[in-house]
Amino acid sequence: MKKELLDILCCPRCKGKFSLRTDAMESDEIKEGALSCCGNTYKIINFIPRFINTDKYVSSFSFEWRLHKRTQLDSANINTDMAGQSRKDFEKRVDFRLSELKGKWVLDAGCGMGRFSEIAVKEGANLVAVDLSFAVDMAYENIGAAKNAHFIQADLFNLPLRENSFDFVYSFGVLHHTPDCSAAFDSIAKLVKPSGKLAIFVYSSYNKGIVYSSAFWRLFTTMMPKRLLYILSYISVPLYYFYRIPVAGNIAKMLFVIPMWKDSRWRVLDTFDWYSPKYQSKHTHWEVSDWFKKNGFKNAQIYEGEITMSAQKG
Ligand SMILES: C[S@@+](CC[C@H](N)C(=O)[O-])C[C@H]1O[C@@H](n2cnc3c(N)ncnc32)[C@H](O)[C@@H]1O
Ligand SMILES: [Zn+2]
Repeated sequence: MKKELLDILCCPRCKGKFSLRTDAMESDEIKEGALSCCGNTYKIINFIPRFINTDKYVSSFSFEWRLHKRTQLDSANINTDMAGQSRKDFEKRVDFRLSELKGKWVLDAGCGMGRFSEIAVKEGANLVAVDLSFAVDMAYENIGAAKNAHFIQADLFNLPLRENSFDFVYSFGVLHHTPDCSAAFDSIAKLVKPSGKLAIFVYSSYNKGIVYSSAFWRLFTTMMPKRLLYILSYISVPLYYFYRIPVAGNIAKMLFVIPMWKDSRWRVLDTFDWYSPKYQSKHTHWEVSDWFKKNGFKNAQIYEGEITMSAQKG
């Protein structure tokens, strides 16, 4: 943990400042130690302050991001079919140039292995990456060396972060994996400064074929041992070619969804990512726009396709 993170951290109970104990330092960072307040102590283990004891309902993500620590990282996809894909996704979800993040406090809420964090860090943001799963350790391995990258393992519903303190908060593909998507939204919306921005992407509920077929398959897949499901996810390698056949492919795609990435590693990863998580809710633009309004945001930008929306606070 870098000491600068203390500026933005606060006790999740009383919102007061933590007292810090340092047990081991390495390359100017706290490797082992503890943060205390209100009679609670949160350990810093392997450079990351830990505000949870288990990875609760996100163990599928701990599993998936350990196996695919670098699959979707732009810096690991130079000169491949997927070159720059994470940056493209990031850019299309916001209404400003990413270079404007320089020097700003930015939160990646549900960072996974840090593919979007990597981009914000390269743009010079003071980036805080948070995840409930042990993916946060993968994110640390990927980008922790950067001086402006900070990490915490915590639950979005109980964040140890000061309210109204971030210039920009984004959460891509995360809120729908919590037990209450709207409450998770409220929790991160509080952290945005007045005039700051928030951008989210959640799954869409418009395509009923996909909604119902996924709900059916997930009855079984969410109960399976992760290893077995991961092996079964390799079905997406040949299915991709079948799904490209006109008509038959389109019908089959509806009955059993797989992501249609060109790169087979991305397909395997995202097939597992679709069928394994315990929670997976789907939403409409109206719902999402109401969440923004309720939390005092205006000028919501709606982007086509997936439910992606961004807006300014106040
Ligand atoms: C599909 S992954 C997306 C990761 C990253 N945003 C990306 O697009 O690559 C969803 C992530 O949300 C995290 N997550 C789910 N519920 C969470 C919660 N309550 N608090 C923090 N992170 C959570 C999971 O652990 C997982 O890493
Ligand atoms: Zn306290």
